[in-house]
Amino acid sequence: MVLGLSGGIACYKAAELVRELIKAGATVQVVMTEAAEQFITAVTLQALSNRTVFTSQWDAREANNMAHINLTRGADAVLVAPASADFIAKLLHGRADDLLSLLCLARPIERCPLLVAPAMNREMWAHPATQRNVAQLKADGATVLGPGSGDQACGEIGDGRMLEPAELRDELIAFFQPKGLAGRRVLVTAGPTFEPIDPVRGLTNRSSGKMGFAIARAAAEAGAEVTLIAGPVALATPRHVRRVDVTTAAEMHAAALAAAIDSDVFVATAAVADWRVASVAGAKIKKADGRSVPVLELVENPDILAAVARLPKRPYCVGFAAESENLLAYAREKLVKKNVPLIIANIGGATFGEDDNAITLVDAAGDHEWPRAGKLALARRLVAEIAARLEREPTAGRP
Ligand code: CTP
Repeated sequence: MVLGLSGGIACYKAAELVRELIKAGATVQVVMTEAAEQFITAVTLQALSNRTVFTSQWDAREANNMAHINLTRGADAVLVAPASADFIAKLLHGRADDLLSLLCLARPIERCPLLVAPAMNREMWAHPATQRNVAQLKADGATVLGPGSGDQACGEIGDGRMLEPAELRDELIAFFQPKGLAGRRVLVTAGPTFEPIDPVRGLTNRSSGKMGFAIARAAAEAGAEVTLIAGPVALATPRHVRRVDVTTAAEMHAAALAAAIDSDVFVATAAVADWRVASVAGAKIKKADGRSVPVLELVENPDILAAVARLPKRPYCVGFAAESENLLAYAREKLVKKNVPLIIANIGGATFGEDDNAITLVDAAGDHEWPRAGKLALARRLVAEIAARLEREPTAGRP
């Protein structure tokens, strides 16, 4: 890919961006405008990208002296980050008086997409001229990434910050994922729930939430509008995902039923606590010097997946079965008992907290074993599988 830098203080983030993109497997060809060279040196970017940097349309290193053509012919994308207000204005008019704007204009528009990451002061971003230019740039087929909001180098606070390098990397990766769930609404539950015993103690389990967060991310990458209902976990919210934090199963139940009504897909990855304490102590329970130990009376929590699957206009419901033994038999039991079209079976001890997992898809037609892989890779494959099932059978799973 080509990474183009135009002039702005956010150029300092470009060094990290090059590293992130290379770590993610990209080949990065850096092109800089003259203004960008005021902020960061070509030496830094050459060292990090391991390729000579291009800065001029008169660069004699290319045999045909046509860097503006050659650089995009093998590229999968051009990302301009930072894209200054001036550079955006230039792009929109099809002006081409430096190498970067030239190559943006000369790129094969059908197979080399243009992505821009604006970076500027908030007043410059909010100005009607910039907003007009950005709207036209989008209408011309460019993808605008960000900008973010927050503290700016000038000391002001507002919209116009370039996205962080890791965010830009994730946006770029998402851009290239198939959009099988475009226009669909997806609801995901993730993580454990926490059922209080008293103000300082509770019942919970070892679910890390990683699989559910990976599914939410993969669904958003596939173009869905995603709501993620998360129990107590310390994971970052995937980009473009609406997150609702809950603690108890009862809260998760209420949030999931409210959101399920207009969802097309429900993936229940949460390890919902099966029981809660019948009456939560208002004050910390104290030890009675060995004379007695507290006895907890438990009551069963509502089954969220089964409740969603009972809705008259229910989404396509996918459940998980975390077992320690008899994996497939128990998974098939859950398929029937919860009345859902698909259950993902996995061994609890081999998935909780891990970064990878091995799963078996269990449906009415049979079992399909998927080999062990990273949770994000599995999530993407699962999202593609759900998209294909919705495509084949638009009302799949509805009673
Ligand atoms: N589930 C749910 N609400 C519950 C319990 C489970 O939505 N109160 C969902 C889980 O998110 C998962 C599926 O049901 O998708 C199966 O969860 P699991 O804990 O494996 O099964 P249980 O139904 O709790 O049965 P058991 O604990 O007896 O194995």
